[in-house]
Amino acid sequence: MAEVSHRQGPVGRHPGWPARLGPLHVGAGVLEVRKPRLSDASAWSRIRRRDRRHLETWEPTTPGDWDTNNAALAWPGQWSTLRALARRGMSLPFVITVDGQLAGQVTVGNVVRGSLCSAWIGYWVGTHAVGGGVATAAAALVVVHSFVAAGLPRRVATVRPENAPSIRVLTKLGFREEGLFRRYLDVAGMWRDHLCFALTTEDIPNGLVSRLVAEGHASHV
Ligand code: ACO
Repeated sequence: MAEVSHRQGPVGRHPGWPARLGPLHVGAGVLEVRKPRLSDASAWSRIRRRDRRHLETWEPTTPGDWDTNNAALAWPGQWSTLRALARRGMSLPFVITVDGQLAGQVTVGNVVRGSLCSAWIGYWVGTHAVGGGVATAAAALVVVHSFVAAGLPRRVATVRPENAPSIRVLTKLGFREEGLFRRYLDVAGMWRDHLCFALTTEDIPNGLVSRLVAEGHASHV
């Protein structure tokens, strides 16, 4: 799977971190995935506050109100937490850019090593960039990176059964539906059922990004 450009930093305690992935050309523009920066605050906040309706239905419930939690002033705390988790090997938190502008986030979280060796993947994309293949391409880059550079051979994704666009993203990536978790996660103020999807290294013997390119979902820049 030497299909992805990995500009990886010095090897630390957490294999695969930091990294910059891409570029790939998708319908929305030129896509890259990179580590979050403190200077992302205003763009992140502008998109998140504008897109409350688009995001809140699908994201885990957090204490407090949306505007405060997604204010530019809230970003330094979030950025610092993401950075600490990444440095401790517990997460691979990335932002997605399209034509150099922030478009969303994609995160590999809850990294567990040892005999389980597991982690989930989650993502969101701002309304200005949806429908252009952004989530699919960004998730593909990060899945491959987590398999190869981070050495995590199985990605899990949980999604509400009502979230058709996200289920389509996972299906395009080749994720397999493995079951239904009842009352799994507190989302938008209620315990919600979630479908569990998974993808392992064995599922993509010929690479994931090259398959997306062959199927016309993305192209190399
Ligand atoms: N029904 C069925 N398919 C749909 C619908 C719908 N109502 N709306 C869009 N789609 C399809 C699109 O046509 C596209 O498929 P196609 O390429 O075959 O045409 C696909 O869904 C979306 O693919 P992308 O363009 O790669 O995805 P996008 O960049 O638009 O991002 C995302 C999708 C992340 C779900 C975005 O809409 C979003 O951020 N939603 C809110 C937050 C969210 O739901 N995050 C995911 C939570 S679950 C998880 O993280 C595992």
